[in-house]
Amino acid sequence: MSHNITNQNLISFKIKNFELFSRTLDNLKNLRGTVDLLPDQLIKWQNVEKILFDLLSRASIKEIRTPILEMTELFIRGIGEGTDVVSKEMYTFLDRGKRSCTLRPEGTASVVRALIQNGISSNPLQKLWYMGPMFRYERPQAGRQRQFHQLGVEFIGYESVRSDIEIIALAWDILGALGIKELNLEINTLGDLNDRLNFQKSFVEWLEINKNSLDLDSQNRINKNPLRILDTKNAHTKKILENSPKLFNFLSEKSLTRYIELKNQLEALKIPYVENFNLVRGLDYYTHTAFEITSGALGSQATVCGGGRYDNLIKQMGGNDTPAIGFAIGLERLILLAGKELEVARKTDIYIVNQGLRAELLAMELSRKLRNFDLLVELDLSGASFSKQFRKANKLNSKGIIIVGDDEAAKEEFIIRLFDKQIPENREEVISFDNDIQLKKWLTNNLFLK
Ligand code: HAM
Repeated sequence: MSHNITNQNLISFKIKNFELFSRTLDNLKNLRGTVDLLPDQLIKWQNVEKILFDLLSRASIKEIRTPILEMTELFIRGIGEGTDVVSKEMYTFLDRGKRSCTLRPEGTASVVRALIQNGISSNPLQKLWYMGPMFRYERPQAGRQRQFHQLGVEFIGYESVRSDIEIIALAWDILGALGIKELNLEINTLGDLNDRLNFQKSFVEWLEINKNSLDLDSQNRINKNPLRILDTKNAHTKKILENSPKLFNFLSEKSLTRYIELKNQLEALKIPYVENFNLVRGLDYYTHTAFEITSGALGSQATVCGGGRYDNLIKQMGGNDTPAIGFAIGLERLILLAGKELEVARKTDIYIVNQGLRAELLAMELSRKLRNFDLLVELDLSGASFSKQFRKANKLNSKGIIIVGDDEAAKEEFIIRLFDKQIPENREEVISFDNDIQLKKWLTNNLFLK
Protein backbone atom coordinates (compact mmCIF):
# COMPACT_ATOMS: atom_id res chain seq x y z
CA MET A 1 0.00 0.00 0.00
CA SER A 2 1.39 3.43 -0.90
CA HIS A 3 1.87 6.07 1.80
CA ASN A 4 -0.28 8.69 0.13
CA ILE A 5 -3.36 6.50 0.19
CA THR A 6 -6.58 8.49 0.53
CA ASN A 7 -9.12 7.87 3.23
CA GLN A 8 -11.62 6.68 0.64
CA ASN A 9 -9.14 4.15 -0.69
CA LEU A 10 -8.41 2.90 2.79
CA ILE A 11 -12.09 2.41 3.56
CA SER A 12 -12.75 0.47 0.33
CA PHE A 13 -9.61 -1.59 0.96
CA LYS A 14 -10.90 -2.48 4.44
CA ILE A 15 -14.38 -3.36 3.14
CA LYS A 16 -12.98 -5.53 0.36
CA ASN A 17 -10.72 -7.37 2.76
CA PHE A 18 -13.41 -7.74 5.36
CA GLU A 19 -15.64 -9.40 2.76
CA LEU A 20 -12.80 -11.64 1.66
CA PHE A 21 -11.95 -12.46 5.26
CA SER A 22 -15.49 -13.29 6.35
CA ARG A 23 -16.04 -15.37 3.22
CA THR A 24 -12.88 -17.39 3.83
CA LEU A 25 -13.76 -17.98 7.46
CA ASP A 26 -16.96 -19.68 6.33
CA ASN A 27 -14.95 -22.07 4.24
CA LEU A 28 -12.28 -22.71 6.83
CA LYS A 29 -13.02 -26.14 8.14
CA ASN A 30 -10.83 -28.96 9.21
CA LEU A 31 -9.92 -31.50 6.54
CA ARG A 32 -12.14 -34.56 6.13
CA GLY A 33 -10.99 -37.38 8.36
CA THR A 34 -9.25 -35.08 10.86
CA VAL A 35 -10.80 -34.03 14.16
CA ASP A 36 -10.42 -31.33 16.78
CA LEU A 37 -10.04 -32.69 20.27
CA LEU A 38 -11.73 -30.19 22.56
CA PRO A 39 -10.96 -29.70 26.27
CA ASP A 40 -13.90 -31.80 27.50
CA GLN A 41 -12.98 -34.72 25.22
CA LEU A 42 -9.33 -34.46 26.18
CA ILE A 43 -10.11 -35.31 29.81
CA LYS A 44 -10.59 -38.92 28.75
CA TRP A 45 -7.54 -38.86 26.45
CA GLN A 46 -5.36 -37.53 29.23
CA ASN A 47 -6.66 -40.04 31.78
CA VAL A 48 -6.03 -42.88 29.33
CA GLU A 49 -2.57 -41.56 28.43
CA LYS A 50 -1.63 -41.36 32.11
CA ILE A 51 -2.54 -45.03 32.62
CA LEU A 52 -0.56 -45.94 29.48
CA PHE A 53 2.53 -43.99 30.57
CA ASP A 54 2.45 -45.66 33.99
CA LEU A 55 2.09 -49.16 32.53
CA LEU A 56 4.87 -48.62 30.00
CA SER A 57 7.31 -47.20 32.50
CA ARG A 58 6.55 -50.03 34.96
CA ALA A 59 7.41 -52.47 32.15
CA SER A 60 10.78 -50.64 31.70
CA ILE A 61 9.98 -49.56 28.16
CA LYS A 62 11.59 -46.31 27.01
CA GLU A 63 10.06 -43.63 24.85
CA ILE A 64 11.35 -42.70 21.39
CA ARG A 65 10.12 -39.75 19.30
CA THR A 66 10.71 -39.60 15.56
CA PRO A 67 9.62 -36.95 13.04
CA ILE A 68 6.09 -36.99 11.69
CA LEU A 69 7.45 -36.18 8.25
CA GLU A 70 9.87 -38.59 6.56
CA MET A 71 11.34 -39.31 3.14
CA THR A 72 8.75 -41.19 1.08
CA GLU A 73 11.37 -43.82 0.24
CA LEU A 74 11.41 -44.94 3.88
CA PHE A 75 7.83 -46.19 3.78
CA ILE A 76 8.10 -47.65 0.28
CA ARG A 77 11.07 -49.73 1.39
CA GLY A 78 9.87 -50.38 4.92
CA ILE A 79 6.18 -51.16 4.47
CA GLY A 80 6.22 -52.45 0.88
CA GLU A 81 5.16 -50.96 -2.44
CA GLY A 82 2.32 -53.42 -3.01
CA THR A 83 0.53 -52.66 0.27
CA ASP A 84 -2.64 -50.55 0.39
CA VAL A 85 -0.96 -48.20 2.84
CA VAL A 86 1.84 -47.32 0.41
CA SER A 87 -0.02 -47.60 -2.89
CA LYS A 88 -3.26 -45.85 -1.92
CA GLU A 89 -3.19 -44.21 1.46
CA MET A 90 -0.08 -42.10 1.93
CA TYR A 91 -0.06 -38.31 2.20
CA THR A 92 2.88 -37.65 -0.12
CA PHE A 93 4.04 -34.34 -1.55
CA LEU A 94 7.11 -32.54 -2.86
CA ASP A 95 8.60 -30.02 -0.46
CA ARG A 96 10.12 -26.73 -1.62
CA GLY A 97 13.40 -28.50 -2.30
CA LYS A 98 11.52 -30.94 -4.58
CA ARG A 99 12.09 -33.85 -2.19
CA SER A 100 9.28 -36.37 -1.92
CA CYS A 101 8.02 -36.33 1.69
CA THR A 102 5.34 -38.39 3.41
CA LEU A 103 3.37 -37.89 6.60
CA ARG A 104 4.06 -41.11 8.49
CA PRO A 105 1.32 -43.71 8.05
CA GLU A 106 2.74 -45.84 10.91
CA GLY A 107 5.67 -45.83 13.33
CA THR A 108 7.68 -49.02 12.88
CA ALA A 109 9.61 -47.97 9.76
CA SER A 110 10.55 -44.63 11.38
CA VAL A 111 11.77 -46.29 14.58
CA VAL A 112 13.93 -48.70 12.58
CA ARG A 113 15.37 -45.81 10.54
CA ALA A 114 16.12 -43.80 13.68
CA LEU A 115 17.91 -46.73 15.31
CA ILE A 116 20.05 -47.45 12.25
CA GLN A 117 20.83 -43.78 11.61
CA ASN A 118 21.77 -43.03 15.22
CA GLY A 119 23.94 -46.12 15.49
CA ILE A 120 21.78 -47.61 18.22
CA SER A 121 22.32 -51.32 17.96
CA SER A 122 20.35 -54.06 19.62
CA ASN A 123 23.11 -54.40 22.19
CA PRO A 124 21.82 -53.72 24.75
CA LEU A 125 18.42 -54.91 23.64
CA GLN A 126 15.88 -52.11 23.18
CA LYS A 127 12.32 -51.94 24.43
CA LEU A 128 10.76 -48.78 22.99
CA TRP A 129 7.40 -47.04 22.78
CA TYR A 130 6.02 -44.05 20.87
CA MET A 131 2.76 -42.23 20.68
CA GLY A 132 1.49 -39.71 18.17
CA PRO A 133 -0.43 -38.88 15.02
CA MET A 134 -0.32 -41.08 11.90
CA PHE A 135 -1.86 -40.31 8.51
CA ARG A 136 -3.66 -42.57 6.06
CA TYR A 137 -5.92 -41.46 3.24
CA GLU A 138 -8.77 -43.88 4.00
CA ARG A 139 -12.53 -43.46 3.83
CA PRO A 140 -13.43 -41.93 7.19
CA GLN A 141 -16.01 -43.65 9.39
CA ALA A 142 -16.51 -44.33 13.11
CA GLY A 143 -13.11 -45.44 14.45
CA ARG A 144 -11.35 -44.66 11.16
CA GLN A 145 -9.76 -41.30 10.46
CA ARG A 146 -7.20 -39.85 8.09
CA GLN A 147 -5.24 -38.39 10.97
CA PHE A 148 -5.37 -40.85 13.85
CA HIS A 149 -3.13 -41.69 16.79
CA GLN A 150 -1.21 -44.78 17.73
CA LEU A 151 0.60 -46.06 20.75
CA GLY A 152 3.36 -48.30 19.39
CA VAL A 153 5.75 -50.63 21.19
CA GLU A 154 8.81 -52.17 19.54
CA PHE A 155 11.19 -54.74 21.06
CA ILE A 156 14.43 -54.58 19.08
CA GLY A 157 16.95 -57.44 19.08
CA TYR A 158 14.61 -59.94 20.73
CA GLU A 159 14.34 -63.33 19.10
CA SER A 160 12.88 -65.71 21.67
CA VAL A 161 9.25 -66.78 21.82
CA ARG A 162 9.26 -65.23 25.28
CA SER A 163 9.53 -61.79 23.66
CA ASP A 164 6.48 -62.55 21.48
CA ILE A 165 4.66 -63.49 24.64
CA GLU A 166 5.73 -60.38 26.54
CA ILE A 167 4.58 -58.21 23.63
CA ILE A 168 1.19 -59.91 23.33
CA ALA A 169 0.69 -59.98 27.11
CA LEU A 170 1.57 -56.27 27.32
CA ALA A 171 -1.01 -55.35 24.66
CA TRP A 172 -3.56 -57.59 26.37
CA ASP A 173 -2.85 -56.07 29.80
CA ILE A 174 -3.00 -52.49 28.51
CA LEU A 175 -6.48 -53.11 27.10
CA GLY A 176 -7.48 -54.94 30.29
CA ALA A 177 -6.20 -52.11 32.53
CA LEU A 178 -8.51 -49.73 30.69
CA GLY A 179 -11.46 -51.96 31.48
CA ILE A 180 -12.04 -52.98 27.85
CA LYS A 181 -14.35 -55.95 27.50
CA GLU A 182 -15.19 -58.42 24.73
CA LEU A 183 -11.57 -58.72 23.63
CA ASN A 184 -10.50 -61.36 21.13
CA LEU A 185 -6.90 -62.16 20.39
CA GLU A 186 -6.27 -63.68 16.97
CA ILE A 187 -2.90 -65.16 16.14
CA ASN A 188 -1.21 -66.60 13.08
CA THR A 189 2.26 -67.44 11.89
CA LEU A 190 3.65 -66.22 8.59
CA GLY A 191 6.79 -68.36 8.85
CA ASP A 192 10.15 -67.07 7.75
CA LEU A 193 11.01 -65.61 4.35
CA ASN A 194 11.76 -69.01 2.88
CA ASP A 195 8.50 -70.57 4.07
CA ARG A 196 6.60 -67.65 2.60
CA LEU A 197 8.36 -67.77 -0.76
CA ASN A 198 7.60 -71.48 -1.08
CA PHE A 199 3.98 -70.90 -0.17
CA GLN A 200 3.63 -67.87 -2.40
CA LYS A 201 4.86 -69.84 -5.42
CA SER A 202 2.19 -72.50 -5.20
CA PHE A 203 -0.45 -70.04 -3.97
CA VAL A 204 0.05 -67.80 -7.01
CA GLU A 205 -0.10 -70.83 -9.32
CA TRP A 206 -3.40 -71.80 -7.69
CA LEU A 207 -4.68 -68.21 -7.91
CA GLU A 208 -3.87 -68.02 -11.62
CA ILE A 209 -5.87 -71.21 -12.24
CA ASN A 210 -8.82 -69.89 -10.20
CA LYS A 211 -8.47 -66.26 -11.24
CA ASN A 212 -11.88 -65.93 -12.87
CA SER A 213 -13.68 -67.03 -9.71
CA LEU A 214 -12.08 -64.28 -7.60
CA ASP A 215 -13.42 -60.77 -7.03
CA LEU A 216 -11.75 -57.99 -9.04
CA ASP A 217 -9.80 -56.59 -6.11
CA SER A 218 -8.27 -59.99 -5.40
CA GLN A 219 -7.51 -60.55 -9.08
CA ASN A 220 -5.54 -57.30 -9.08
CA ARG A 221 -3.59 -58.41 -6.06
CA ILE A 222 -2.28 -61.65 -7.58
CA ASN A 223 0.84 -60.00 -8.91
CA LYS A 224 1.09 -57.12 -6.47
CA ASN A 225 0.45 -58.62 -3.05
CA PRO A 226 -1.01 -62.14 -3.23
CA LEU A 227 -0.83 -62.77 0.51
CA ARG A 228 -3.34 -59.97 1.16
CA ILE A 229 -5.94 -61.92 -0.81
CA LEU A 230 -6.13 -64.20 2.22
CA ASP A 231 -7.83 -61.56 4.33
CA THR A 232 -10.35 -60.49 1.71
CA LYS A 233 -13.76 -59.45 2.98
CA ASN A 234 -15.47 -60.78 -0.19
CA ALA A 235 -17.65 -63.72 0.86
CA HIS A 236 -17.49 -65.51 -2.49
CA THR A 237 -13.69 -65.26 -2.71
CA LYS A 238 -13.48 -66.43 0.89
CA LYS A 239 -15.40 -69.57 -0.03
CA ILE A 240 -13.17 -70.24 -3.05
CA LEU A 241 -10.05 -69.77 -0.89
CA GLU A 242 -11.10 -72.61 1.37
CA ASN A 243 -9.55 -74.94 -1.21
CA SER A 244 -6.35 -72.98 -1.74
CA PRO A 245 -2.90 -74.08 -0.50
CA LYS A 246 -2.36 -73.16 3.15
CA LEU A 247 0.73 -71.26 4.35
CA PHE A 248 0.67 -73.39 7.47
CA ASN A 249 1.59 -76.47 5.40
CA PHE A 250 4.70 -74.74 4.07
CA LEU A 251 6.22 -73.97 7.46
CA SER A 252 9.67 -75.40 8.14
CA GLU A 253 10.12 -77.63 11.16
CA LYS A 254 11.73 -74.72 13.01
CA SER A 255 8.91 -72.26 12.24
CA LEU A 256 6.29 -74.79 13.24
CA THR A 257 8.01 -75.55 16.56
CA ARG A 258 8.21 -71.84 17.25
CA TYR A 259 4.51 -71.41 16.62
CA ILE A 260 3.55 -74.34 18.82
CA GLU A 261 5.74 -72.95 21.60
CA LEU A 262 3.96 -69.59 21.25
CA LYS A 263 0.58 -71.24 21.71
CA ASN A 264 1.80 -73.27 24.69
CA GLN A 265 3.12 -70.18 26.45
CA LEU A 266 -0.07 -68.21 25.80
CA GLU A 267 -2.03 -71.07 27.32
CA ALA A 268 0.32 -71.18 30.31
CA LEU A 269 -0.39 -67.48 30.91
CA LYS A 270 -4.12 -68.07 30.42
CA ILE A 271 -4.34 -65.54 27.60
CA PRO A 272 -7.19 -66.80 25.42
CA TYR A 273 -6.58 -66.78 21.66
CA VAL A 274 -8.13 -67.90 18.41
CA GLU A 275 -6.03 -69.07 15.46
CA ASN A 276 -6.79 -67.26 12.21
CA PHE A 277 -4.76 -68.63 9.32
CA ASN A 278 -6.00 -65.82 7.10
CA LEU A 279 -4.54 -63.12 9.31
CA VAL A 280 -1.73 -61.68 7.18
CA ARG A 281 -1.79 -58.00 8.28
CA GLY A 282 -1.58 -55.09 5.87
CA LEU A 283 2.14 -54.38 5.98
CA ASP A 284 4.82 -56.43 4.22
CA TYR A 285 7.43 -56.69 6.94
CA TYR A 286 5.98 -59.43 9.11
CA THR A 287 7.58 -62.82 9.76
CA HIS A 288 6.45 -65.63 12.08
CA THR A 289 4.01 -64.26 14.67
CA ALA A 290 1.22 -61.94 13.52
CA PHE A 291 -1.61 -60.96 15.84
CA GLU A 292 -4.59 -58.67 16.20
CA ILE A 293 -6.85 -57.83 19.09
CA THR A 294 -10.42 -56.93 18.25
CA SER A 295 -13.32 -55.86 20.41
CA GLY A 296 -16.91 -56.87 19.81
CA ALA A 297 -17.92 -53.45 21.15
CA LEU A 298 -16.32 -51.58 18.24
CA GLY A 299 -18.50 -52.35 15.23
CA SER A 300 -16.96 -52.66 11.79
CA GLN A 301 -13.56 -51.12 12.63
CA ALA A 302 -13.03 -53.70 15.34
CA THR A 303 -9.25 -54.02 15.40
CA VAL A 304 -7.88 -52.04 18.28
CA CYS A 305 -4.37 -53.51 18.21
CA GLY A 306 -2.22 -55.10 15.54
CA GLY A 307 1.32 -56.34 15.58
CA GLY A 308 3.83 -59.01 14.88
CA ARG A 309 7.41 -60.01 14.37
CA TYR A 310 9.61 -58.39 11.69
CA ASP A 311 12.92 -60.22 11.74
CA ASN A 312 14.11 -59.09 8.30
CA LEU A 313 13.13 -55.42 8.27
CA ILE A 314 16.13 -53.92 10.04
CA LYS A 315 18.62 -55.70 7.77
CA GLN A 316 16.53 -54.91 4.73
CA MET A 317 16.68 -51.22 5.65
CA GLY A 318 20.46 -51.23 5.94
CA GLY A 319 21.01 -52.19 9.59
CA ASN A 320 22.48 -55.31 11.15
CA ASP A 321 20.60 -58.56 11.01
CA THR A 322 18.35 -57.90 14.02
CA PRO A 323 15.13 -59.65 15.00
CA ALA A 324 12.28 -57.53 16.35
CA ILE A 325 8.63 -57.59 17.31
CA GLY A 326 6.04 -54.94 18.13
CA PHE A 327 2.46 -53.76 18.04
CA ALA A 328 0.42 -50.59 17.71
CA ILE A 329 -2.86 -49.68 19.35
CA GLY A 330 -5.20 -47.20 17.67
CA LEU A 331 -5.88 -44.56 20.31
CA GLU A 332 -9.21 -43.34 18.86
CA ARG A 333 -10.54 -46.90 19.09
CA LEU A 334 -9.04 -47.29 22.56
CA ILE A 335 -10.77 -44.10 23.73
CA LEU A 336 -14.09 -45.29 22.27
CA LEU A 337 -13.76 -48.51 24.25
CA ALA A 338 -12.35 -47.22 27.53
CA GLY A 339 -14.78 -46.89 30.45
CA LYS A 340 -16.97 -43.85 31.16
CA GLU A 341 -15.26 -43.35 34.54
CA LEU A 342 -12.23 -42.03 32.59
CA GLU A 343 -14.32 -39.13 31.32
CA VAL A 344 -14.30 -37.54 34.77
CA ALA A 345 -11.88 -34.65 35.28
CA ARG A 346 -9.82 -34.30 38.42
CA LYS A 347 -11.68 -32.05 40.82
CA THR A 348 -10.35 -28.57 41.59
CA ASP A 349 -8.74 -28.63 45.04
CA ILE A 350 -8.80 -24.92 45.78
CA TYR A 351 -10.68 -22.12 44.11
CA ILE A 352 -9.39 -18.65 44.97
CA VAL A 353 -12.07 -15.99 45.24
CA ASN A 354 -10.43 -12.55 45.22
CA GLN A 355 -11.23 -8.92 44.67
CA GLY A 356 -9.45 -5.60 45.27
CA LEU A 357 -6.10 -4.25 44.10
CA ARG A 358 -3.85 -5.57 46.86
CA ALA A 359 -6.04 -8.66 47.40
CA GLU A 360 -5.63 -9.74 43.77
CA LEU A 361 -1.86 -9.42 43.95
CA LEU A 362 -1.71 -11.45 47.18
CA ALA A 363 -4.06 -14.04 45.69
CA MET A 364 -1.84 -14.39 42.62
CA GLU A 365 1.20 -15.01 44.84
CA LEU A 366 -0.73 -17.51 46.94
CA SER A 367 -1.89 -19.45 43.85
CA ARG A 368 1.74 -19.88 42.76
CA LYS A 369 2.68 -21.10 46.22
CA LEU A 370 -0.23 -23.58 46.32
CA ARG A 371 0.68 -25.09 42.95
CA ASN A 372 3.99 -26.20 44.44
CA PHE A 373 1.95 -28.70 46.39
CA ASP A 374 0.30 -31.38 44.29
CA LEU A 375 -2.90 -29.37 44.15
CA LEU A 376 -5.21 -28.30 41.35
CA VAL A 377 -5.71 -24.60 41.96
CA GLU A 378 -7.87 -22.12 40.07
CA LEU A 379 -7.40 -18.41 40.56
CA ASP A 380 -10.50 -16.44 39.61
CA LEU A 381 -9.38 -13.67 37.26
CA SER A 382 -12.85 -12.34 36.46
CA GLY A 383 -12.91 -9.38 38.89
CA ALA A 384 -16.62 -10.21 39.27
CA SER A 385 -18.58 -9.88 42.51
CA PHE A 386 -17.83 -12.29 45.35
CA SER A 387 -21.19 -13.99 44.90
CA LYS A 388 -20.47 -14.68 41.21
CA GLN A 389 -17.05 -16.07 42.06
CA PHE A 390 -18.58 -18.28 44.77
CA ARG A 391 -21.10 -19.59 42.26
CA LYS A 392 -18.28 -20.54 39.88
CA ALA A 393 -16.44 -22.39 42.69
CA ASN A 394 -19.67 -24.15 43.51
CA LYS A 395 -20.24 -25.15 39.89
CA LEU A 396 -16.74 -26.60 39.70
CA ASN A 397 -17.43 -28.51 42.88
CA SER A 398 -14.08 -27.34 44.23
CA LYS A 399 -12.99 -29.16 47.37
CA GLY A 400 -11.78 -26.01 49.08
CA ILE A 401 -12.03 -22.29 48.70
CA ILE A 402 -9.81 -19.35 49.61
CA ILE A 403 -11.18 -15.87 50.03
CA VAL A 404 -9.09 -12.72 49.78
CA GLY A 405 -10.91 -9.38 49.85
CA ASP A 406 -9.83 -5.88 50.89
CA ASP A 407 -10.33 -6.63 54.59
CA GLU A 408 -8.19 -9.76 54.46
CA ALA A 409 -5.53 -8.04 52.34
CA ALA A 410 -5.28 -5.19 54.84
CA LYS A 411 -4.50 -7.73 57.56
CA GLU A 412 -2.18 -9.78 55.26
CA GLU A 413 -4.32 -12.88 55.73
CA PHE A 414 -6.81 -15.06 53.87
CA ILE A 415 -9.75 -17.27 54.71
CA ILE A 416 -9.55 -20.91 53.73
CA ARG A 417 -12.64 -23.06 53.91
CA LEU A 418 -13.60 -26.61 53.09
CA PHE A 419 -16.29 -26.46 50.47
CA ASP A 420 -17.52 -30.00 50.91
CA LYS A 421 -21.27 -30.02 51.34
CA GLN A 422 -21.09 -33.37 53.14
CA ILE A 423 -19.27 -31.73 56.06
CA PRO A 424 -21.68 -29.29 57.68
CA GLU A 425 -19.29 -27.23 59.78
CA ASN A 426 -17.28 -26.11 56.67
CA ARG A 427 -13.94 -26.27 58.36
CA GLU A 428 -12.63 -22.74 58.05
CA GLU A 429 -9.48 -20.99 59.21
CA VAL A 430 -7.92 -17.58 58.87
CA ILE A 431 -4.27 -17.88 57.92
CA SER A 432 -1.62 -15.22 57.59
CA PHE A 433 0.07 -15.07 54.16
CA ASP A 434 3.46 -15.81 55.67
CA ASN A 435 2.32 -18.73 57.82
CA ASP A 436 3.22 -21.64 55.53
CA ILE A 437 3.19 -24.10 58.42
CA GLN A 438 -0.43 -23.40 59.30
CA LEU A 439 -1.38 -23.53 55.58
CA LYS A 440 0.29 -26.90 55.08
CA LYS A 441 -1.37 -28.25 58.21
CA TRP A 442 -4.80 -27.18 56.99
CA LEU A 443 -4.19 -28.74 53.58
CA THR A 444 -2.94 -31.98 55.14
CA ASN A 445 -5.90 -32.25 57.51
CA ASN A 446 -8.62 -31.22 55.11
CA LEU A 447 -7.42 -32.17 51.62
CA PHE A 448 -5.33 -35.12 52.75
CA LEU A 449 -2.20 -33.66 51.23
CA LYS A 450 0.67 -36.08 51.71
P1 HAM B 1 -1.73 -51.41 11.78
O1 HAM B 1 -2.50 -52.65 11.94
O2 HAM B 1 -1.65 -50.83 10.42
O3 HAM B 1 -0.27 -51.72 12.32
O4 HAM B 1 -2.29 -50.30 12.76
C1 HAM B 1 -2.40 -50.56 14.14
C2 HAM B 1 -3.70 -49.99 14.68
O5 HAM B 1 -3.83 -48.62 14.36
C3 HAM B 1 -4.96 -50.63 14.11
O6 HAM B 1 -5.25 -51.84 14.74
C4 HAM B 1 -6.00 -49.57 14.43
O7 HAM B 1 -6.43 -49.68 15.77
C5 HAM B 1 -5.21 -48.28 14.27
N1 HAM B 1 -5.50 -47.67 12.95
C6 HAM B 1 -4.96 -47.97 11.76
N2 HAM B 1 -5.48 -47.19 10.79
C7 HAM B 1 -6.37 -46.37 11.39
C8 HAM B 1 -7.23 -45.32 10.94
N3 HAM B 1 -7.27 -44.94 9.67
N4 HAM B 1 -8.01 -44.69 11.84
C9 HAM B 1 -7.98 -45.04 13.16
N5 HAM B 1 -7.17 -46.02 13.65
C10 HAM B 1 -6.38 -46.68 12.78
C11 HAM B 1 0.76 -50.83 12.31
O8 HAM B 1 0.65 -49.66 12.09
C12 HAM B 1 2.09 -51.46 12.69
N6 HAM B 1 3.12 -50.41 12.65
C13 HAM B 1 2.01 -52.13 14.04
C14 HAM B 1 3.30 -52.77 14.44
C15 HAM B 1 4.24 -52.24 15.27
N7 HAM B 1 3.77 -53.92 14.01
C16 HAM B 1 4.94 -54.15 14.56
N8 HAM B 1 5.27 -53.12 15.31
